[in-house]
Amino acid sequence: MPTAVPLPFPGELQAPGTADAPFEPALALADLPPGSMTRVSRDDLDLLIAHTDEGIVATEDRCPHMAAPFSEGRLEGCTLHCPLHRGAFDVRDGEVVTFPTTGGLSADGVYRPTWTPDGSPAKAPLRPNDPKARARALTRVRRLRYYPLRIRDGAIEVAWPR
Ligand code: FES
Repeated sequence: MPTAVPLPFPGELQAPGTADAPFEPALALADLPPGSMTRVSRDDLDLLIAHTDEGIVATEDRCPHMAAPFSEGRLEGCTLHCPLHRGAFDVRDGEVVTFPTTGGLSADGVYRPTWTPDGSPAKAPLRPNDPKARARALTRVRRLRYYPLRIRDGAIEVAWPR
């Protein structure tokens, strides 16, 4: 299957402000070989453009857990691995593949406990007056958000919000 095509994404996960945004060049297709990913920044928006097994995709270069840059992580097939907390996301649908080790709320608001390695004792239960523990527990891990892209004349063009 050719991979130098835009990867389709769920319409409801399109980033705000991109519906009517013009497509503008982000980088040369030749600079993004299959299996690679890179950060492209404009003003204060940092995008991750990834060349997956099934197509090219643009999403924010911020993990939807605690905002670590995906570009410092790893791309494996269609899965983005965050460099922090072992979180992993499927770029085909924006869903969590591996929930971050710190636990927290899923996109649907379901609480996921802190991860412990097999054979290790479970972490102590939350103490309600511990602000860090409460912050971890209330951190919602959202689905990825997508920026439409197209490929024209050897360039990857992205719909940059105004
Ligand atoms: S910041 Fe990515 S898993 Fe925590």
